[in-house]
Amino acid sequence: MPDQVLMITGASRGIGAATARRAADHGYQVALLARSTDSLTDLVHELGEHIAMALPCDVTDYDSLTDAVAKVEEHYGRLDAVLANAGMNVPSSFLGTGGAEPDQWREMVLTNVYGAAITARAALPALVRSTGHLVLTGSNAGRGIRPGNLYSATKWAVTGMAQNIRAECVGTGVRVTLVQPGMVETDMTANRTDVPKLHADDIANGVLYALGQPPSVDVNELTIRPTGQAPQS
Ligand SMILES: NC(=O)c1ccc[n+]([C@@H]2O[C@H](COP(=O)([O-])OP(=O)(O)OC[C@H]3O[C@@H](n4cnc5c(N)ncnc54)[C@H](OP(=O)(O)O)[C@@H]3O)[C@@H](O)[C@H]2O)c1
Repeated sequence: MPDQVLMITGASRGIGAATARRAADHGYQVALLARSTDSLTDLVHELGEHIAMALPCDVTDYDSLTDAVAKVEEHYGRLDAVLANAGMNVPSSFLGTGGAEPDQWREMVLTNVYGAAITARAALPALVRSTGHLVLTGSNAGRGIRPGNLYSATKWAVTGMAQNIRAECVGTGVRVTLVQPGMVETDMTANRTDVPKLHADDIANGVLYALGQPPSVDVNELTIRPTGQAPQS
């Protein structure tokens, strides 16, 4: 698909970086957002400066996001698609029997919920201009019960957010896709050696599938899990 511009948050590694590579293979130009400037710069060099641009950005900062969107439109002349993917996982327990202390939960809620919300808010005016496509990375954990798990609840919020954004976009031509990965081999799951895992490319393929549909087709949700993953793992 030539001449399409995709902006990805959380592009410095894992699912975001895999999607950037796969999108570049499909002919997209990609704008890469994350906080790790060196990793973004390395990925730009790998993909080529004619294909990729690095925009260091914290997704909890709305001004940085609006600035990034403006730079993408200025540089490429358009913004066709956004993958709101930046996220983090902090273990939790409401009974206090394990996990991180509550003051460490704040950053996760801000990143996973507020960050996704203001990425949408910053990008949607440009996506309306291009009749574009917003893809959000939720999680399989945003569908099922996980005892004591606030991360799961942040992803339930992304599940609802995608539906509410799609409802508001009726009449604009903008498509909204929620991708819900099961367990994927990335830094986030490095400590999980007890479960089957997907490769980040498997999620990238799902994102490219949704983006590659004709404008009349809005893939609402994609749940992609490794074969054999237990329902609540
Ligand atoms: N791995 C799984 O099994 C799995 C399953 C379901 C859903 N997911 C979701 O998939 C998404 C990507 O996760 P991953 O597995 O690829 O994890 P990862 O390898 O740890 O990557 C997380 C990405 O998010 C970025 N990020 C985190 N906080 C940020 C912030 N405040 N501002 C900007 N960027 C930020 C990180 O970049 P910097 O640190 O450089 O900022 C990094 O690029 C997340 O939303 C995650 O919840 C993952």
